[in-house]
Amino acid sequence: MGFILTTPLYYVNDKPHLGSVYTTIICDSIARYKRLKGEKVLFITGVDEHGLKIQRTANEKGVSPEDHCNEISEIYKRNWLEWNITFDKFIRTTSKQHEKVVHEFYQRVKASDDIYMGEQKGWYCVGCEEFKENPENSPFHQCPIHKKNLEWKNESNLFFRLSKYQKEIEDLLKDPNFVEPKERRNEIINFVSKGLKDFSISRKNLSWGIKVPDEPSHTFYVWFDALLGYISAISLDDKNNSLDLSINSGWPADLHLIGKDILRFHAIYWPAMLISAGLKPPKKIIGHGFLTREGQKMGKSLGNILDPNYLISKYGKESVKWFLLKDISLGSDGDFQDRRFVDIVNNDLANTIGNLLNRTSSMSRKWFDNKTPLILNHDSNEISKLSKEIVQRYLYHFDNYKIDKALNEILSYAISVNLYLNEKEPWKLIKDENNINDVKIIIYNVLEATRIIGLLLQPILPELSLKISSQLGDLSFINGNWIKKLEWGLLPFSSDLPAPMPIMNKLDYE
Ligand code: MSP
Repeated sequence: MGFILTTPLYYVNDKPHLGSVYTTIICDSIARYKRLKGEKVLFITGVDEHGLKIQRTANEKGVSPEDHCNEISEIYKRNWLEWNITFDKFIRTTSKQHEKVVHEFYQRVKASDDIYMGEQKGWYCVGCEEFKENPENSPFHQCPIHKKNLEWKNESNLFFRLSKYQKEIEDLLKDPNFVEPKERRNEIINFVSKGLKDFSISRKNLSWGIKVPDEPSHTFYVWFDALLGYISAISLDDKNNSLDLSINSGWPADLHLIGKDILRFHAIYWPAMLISAGLKPPKKIIGHGFLTREGQKMGKSLGNILDPNYLISKYGKESVKWFLLKDISLGSDGDFQDRRFVDIVNNDLANTIGNLLNRTSSMSRKWFDNKTPLILNHDSNEISKLSKEIVQRYLYHFDNYKIDKALNEILSYAISVNLYLNEKEPWKLIKDENNINDVKIIIYNVLEATRIIGLLLQPILPELSLKISSQLGDLSFINGNWIKKLEWGLLPFSSDLPAPMPIMNKLDYE
């Protein structure tokens, strides 16, 4: 099946916000990058539709949970298409196929003697769908994330023997690559070292969920149900969909990319559930940071939520992608400030990259009959050498999911090429006939550098990338081996250059 990567399955209590867009565009860039390198990829996303939170949201709206879920799931799917997200599977946890897999998985865990009936008492956050430890540490028993009152629960639930897997989880965490970034891994190791406690995997008196086969008054706990979406998604579209088929089709996942708030579920509960069922844990989990807006947490009550659709219509999706992926390092928190966003996009994309291509293409057209220059050979020079180094570093960073570093390599290359052009001043050299060969080499170098810059942008900004190659008259863009095309010297000599148009318009603040 190739490389399997997933976003979280988003709660359908509301339509997507910038946080969910953030996770999904990171995954999309990784999926595109891997495909460009020739790897087979299965990119899974979807929605988490069950549980108390969704049931209450539907009740408050006065609609059935089914209707509510249908509406919001559709919005999610449409939204991802608008963002040009190349997901392969979109799993809904209310689908029959998913329910089947949950039942099959439950039987395996039960057969391992890891399920028992117990008493669940504690403070529950409906927003997180999670029992909170030490609620006495937070004022008025409030959830520190949702700032809403916790609810006291006391009921008989089915429990999963997490405590049995203490050693296995500790061993998994010894691998420094299993959870990233490092600080998050340390938090998880610290939590595990205090001793894992069994957790409840069913709810009583909650109708909006998958029924537990042998306990008709219980539905599965929404997290037990939702995590399995990563597996049911794999065989979702096969008419024989089943747990076994999903497993035989490529499980385990290579990468779960999630927010830091849900790391515990992914790095502890989920691997233990899988081991109990005789399955392999995921290979890697990255917990990214949180986005704030002008320094404040985004929230409906604060009235500062950034609507992704507004951002698309006002600025265009690729501007937003560039900013979020280049300016925030994966794992750190990031702040969305309007002014900084506009400045970065204008400087990086419109000026540094866009103008470089535009003015060089204009010079080439003017001096060389609307064509790229005809040079005699590709002797190694400062720009070609730099290109090789930049490409190597970019690939290294991307392979290690340091996407911001990879993108900063592109930018630093574009800055160096601009400097080179300004220092060489071909517009002065051209005045003397004897310099013609030098001018040709300078112009070729810059155009060839922009071709490579365009290719390096392809996993992140496919539309801008396509504009750059069209501007260069480079028709080989769609086909061919991407890695090979990153080699220096492939821009043909004396080939037609179309009339330049700005590849990126400058953004305005208001
Ligand atoms: N349904 C669960 C996930 C189940 S996975 C089997 C869930 N859904 S969620 O919709 O609440 O959150 C989805 C993701 O969005 C999480 O990774 C969360 O960290 C992320 N974000 C929510 N708010 C965010 C920001 N403000 N910034 C960045 N990401 C944030 O949890």
